[in-house]
Amino acid sequence: MKKIVVLTRKWPEAVEAALAQKYDVTLNESDQPFDAAKMRSTLASADAVLTTVTDKLDGSVFESNVIKAQIIGNYGVGYSHIDIEAAKANKVVVTNTPDVLSECTADLALTLMLMVTRRAGEGERQLRAGKWNGWRPTHMIGSRMTGKTLGIVGFGRIGRETAKRAHFGFGMPVIVFNRSKIDPEVLAETNATQVESIEALLSEADIVSLHCPGGDANTHLINVQRLALMKPTSFIINTARGEVIDEQALVNALQRNEIAGAGLDVFENEPTLSDGLAELENAVLLPHMGSSTRETRDQMGFRVIQNLDEYFANKKPGDQVA
Ligand code: DGY
Repeated sequence: MKKIVVLTRKWPEAVEAALAQKYDVTLNESDQPFDAAKMRSTLASADAVLTTVTDKLDGSVFESNVIKAQIIGNYGVGYSHIDIEAAKANKVVVTNTPDVLSECTADLALTLMLMVTRRAGEGERQLRAGKWNGWRPTHMIGSRMTGKTLGIVGFGRIGRETAKRAHFGFGMPVIVFNRSKIDPEVLAETNATQVESIEALLSEADIVSLHCPGGDANTHLINVQRLALMKPTSFIINTARGEVIDEQALVNALQRNEIAGAGLDVFENEPTLSDGLAELENAVLLPHMGSSTRETRDQMGFRVIQNLDEYFANKKPGDQVA
């Protein structure tokens, strides 16, 4: 008998078709996110639940529930929306989709860096609003990216891809803060230097780019005190997880021009933005689209299938995180 597999969101067509050939699949044609009750009943009735970042799998969805699901195949590399301890306690395996989105997410980090330093969002808004009255030497003066120091927080796959682009494309010296010691050979690939503390990185970097995981350990890693360490000419980029920045503290810092700008692809309470954020000209805001290329979104789905196939063939899935 085919295993029962439930998708919590709509997935790329090619992946849905491939899943349907192997599994008894329930798709989510309406693409409406599951609420907690639906998530509970799905965990109680499916063999595999295929989730995304928009699902909140906290302890409560595992509690007082008969769990049938043996595996949660998460479509995405980040999994701070899943209570891993609760999954483990219920013997539910959790997998993610690393590697396949590193390059596209790094590309988007660079997109945000360029947009915010060169005031691209602001310029486009001005033009579309019919407020551009022609070229002049003092119009839309931004900040040059080439040669500036990039501070990367979290030197996993995405952080390293970002470092490559910035270092080889824009001649940027790279400094890194990472909780564990980084292999000197890895640092040497981009001539990067690991600094001892996040405080040192924030005060030295011209552009700070966040690439650490979300979750409790990194919630509000960037808070009011740490924002105050950044130079008034510096920028912060977040393509990691919204909770890593205290978003209201960031809004306040941007409103007072305590830092020069922010480029954000992720937010603390997606899809809602903190008060005041959308009005800021010195913020570039994108709707969580780091991995959104056709190639990558397909690869993410096929990676989930590979993990499922391995699990149901009694092998350890390659991307098991719990
Ligand atoms: C990821 O892969 O973590 C993306 O942010 C989508 O969840």
